[in-house]
Amino acid sequence: MKIKVSDNIATITPYPPGKPLDELEREFGIVDSIKLASNENPWGPSPKVVRALRSELLNLHRYPDGSCYYLVRALAERLGVAAGEIMLGNGSSEVIELLVKAFVQEGDEVITSHPSFLMYQKIVQVRGGINHVVPLQAMRHDLRTIKSKVTGKTRLIFLDNPNNPTGTAIPPVELYRFLSDIPESVIVAVDEAYADFMDKNLQVDAFSLIRNAKGRCPVVFLRTFSKVYGLAGLRLGYGLMAIDLAATLQKVRQPFNINQMAQVGALAALGDEEYYQNTLDRTVRGRDFLSREVDELGCQSYPSQTNFFLIDVRGNADKLYHALLCKGVIVRSMSAYGFENFIRVTVGTDEENNRFLKSLAVCLSELGYV
Ligand SMILES: Cc1ncc(COP(=O)(O)O)c(C=O)c1O
Repeated sequence: MKIKVSDNIATITPYPPGKPLDELEREFGIVDSIKLASNENPWGPSPKVVRALRSELLNLHRYPDGSCYYLVRALAERLGVAAGEIMLGNGSSEVIELLVKAFVQEGDEVITSHPSFLMYQKIVQVRGGINHVVPLQAMRHDLRTIKSKVTGKTRLIFLDNPNNPTGTAIPPVELYRFLSDIPESVIVAVDEAYADFMDKNLQVDAFSLIRNAKGRCPVVFLRTFSKVYGLAGLRLGYGLMAIDLAATLQKVRQPFNINQMAQVGALAALGDEEYYQNTLDRTVRGRDFLSREVDELGCQSYPSQTNFFLIDVRGNADKLYHALLCKGVIVRSMSAYGFENFIRVTVGTDEENNRFLKSLAVCLSELGYV
């Protein structure tokens, strides 16, 4: 290629997309596979969402409402914030991207943890920013070291809370203390993609943190409809932040960044409180059940505040991943994250959970791990 690609772009490893299920099944000669690898909601969207989307299909020749008028107001009412404090994105991934686009210039610094959600570092690299990556300590964000990495060039800190892939959450007192120590020139983005699943006593008051930022860093909360609401395929997320920050992000977004189906689907999802609560209950029950059973098999499950959890399988995780794949059970090996003996498993339906456990028992014994 004659076109010059800058070093920051040329050295990026693309986000590993994963093959479509049909392809995997053909490749491995399996049928009826189950996917417990992407932290999705296994029960799908609420029937109310499906009905609303069906009736919206005939309007697809129109551009969507670029202001997302109804959705923003419904969200504001639900969350008790002002409409201007909400920034919608094509998935919360887009809000991450808008934050970096708006506030990080070439050579500016951003602090993240490793492992954590992969997109933060990639987006910073695309922008020509400098990533400072702080290893987790005992599977948790190392807030003390993160704080020590802040310099005059630091623009953003990303904290996924709970963390992906460990599922650990920051105790609120520690988070409050940390935020009060970070200077006003640094935005701290607290990524709450999985916060719905967290114990109530670990959840923090986003409302007061985005508003009362005198003398400390501004805080942005990132949320998504991809997890508990079961709308990952529609792509909708949002950020909660001070009005002036949101106004800056509005300047750098595309005019129609939220498609019409996402707007209609999310509105309907917000209107089905029972389905939301049901999903939470079923997820927590499934997580407790799976953890107990996995431990019974001789592995070690790690406590999680999300809809997924880590398992120490007592042997090479890649081999176990392949063995499970051959049985049509797709999980995530954590070896690329530096956890050689760990897999990450998303809570599935009861049927999927039982199938996973059965396959796991067989594979562990075939590989001689336990
Ligand atoms: C911690 C974390 N943040 C953000 C996202 C992105 O979510 P979305 O689908 O809203 O882009 C994910 C997706 O898995 C995630 O794990």
